[in-house]
Amino acid sequence: MSGNIAIDLGTSRTRIYAPKKGIIMDEPSVVAIEPISREIIAVGEKAYQMLGRTSKKVNVVFPLLGGMICDYYLLEGMTKDFLKRSRRARLIMPKAIICIPGEITDVQKMAAINAIESAGIRKVHVMEAPIAAAIGAGLDIESPHGFFIVNVGAGTTDIAVTSLNGVVSSFSLRIAGDQMDDEIVKYLRRKYNLMIGKKTAEEIKIKIGLVLPQVKKLVFRAKGRDSVLGLPKWVDITSEEISQIISSIASRIVSNIGEMLELTPPELVGDILTDGIYLSGGCAQLQGFKELISQVTGLKVHLVEDPTGCVVKGAAQSIKRFHFI
Ligand SMILES: Nc1ncnc2c1ncn2[C@@H]1O[C@H](COP(=O)(O)OP(=O)(O)OP(=O)(O)O)[C@@H](O)[C@H]1O
Ligand SMILES: [Mg+2]
Repeated sequence: MSGNIAIDLGTSRTRIYAPKKGIIMDEPSVVAIEPISREIIAVGEKAYQMLGRTSKKVNVVFPLLGGMICDYYLLEGMTKDFLKRSRRARLIMPKAIICIPGEITDVQKMAAINAIESAGIRKVHVMEAPIAAAIGAGLDIESPHGFFIVNVGAGTTDIAVTSLNGVVSSFSLRIAGDQMDDEIVKYLRRKYNLMIGKKTAEEIKIKIGLVLPQVKKLVFRAKGRDSVLGLPKWVDITSEEISQIISSIASRIVSNIGEMLELTPPELVGDILTDGIYLSGGCAQLQGFKELISQVTGLKVHLVEDPTGCVVKGAAQSIKRFHFI
């Protein structure tokens, strides 16, 4: 059936993939609302632009937080808007494979399916994100071969071992990019009395956040407000300071990778020793992250070709591959 799609409902971004067309929507998972009536004012990129710049008349909300659905009504409204904008008028509603973050509970899963079905999808199938990431990375997951996949997103880090088309063991950690942003906000406030928003913190992390100490020192001029005087203020932040914050969170992710390796069945460990670890997700692109994992585990680490798009791509490939729909 044509018109079927794959949706990756990420904590920070939602991506929609249509076979033969590719990614037809890739926007922040954000909604701007009127706080009393909760009427939706803007969705996606437009709502994200309002983040930290709103008056009392507008609230900017992430319907997914830390890998959990925290607002079903807004999730439905957001998905409805994305679907409307991503497809031309069609009488038959598409079916979809969706990937949702982390180890979501069955109750949350059902609620997500309901929200998406009421947003205009005829039938929803849920797919485990690590399997989708592996397929999107081009791994032959149908073979009796173990693959070790780590997806570091915004709200969650998924660590999984797959073999024979299934997840052998997996672990979902509520530590990823968002937490690094939060720690940067806290640090600047504590150290410099500088209040910045989430968007600036994310920009600092992407521009000067290095996981391993590097020779080159980078500087970022962070602009915000003095928390004591209330006046506009800027501070030049160095990559060394930011790296300390980011590295402590990255190390917690790496120690969980180590624990998962210890739990992996011996037959599959052999495959992983030969192949190494496949790393995906937006946060996997942090400079030095791949090297840190390799240093600690002693394994090769491959950053997959399209770290942020591989989950939705893999889910889309499954539409015909597994006859899910
Ligand atoms: N070039 C980059 N360098 C470092 N971090 C990045 C880069 N690009 C994006 N990120 C970070 O990656 C995270 C988003 O990754 P991704 O799009 O995979 O998450 P998501 O799918 O929305 O979230 P989740 O899978 O946790 O639900 C954000 O924290 C973002 O700041
Ligand atoms: Mg994701």
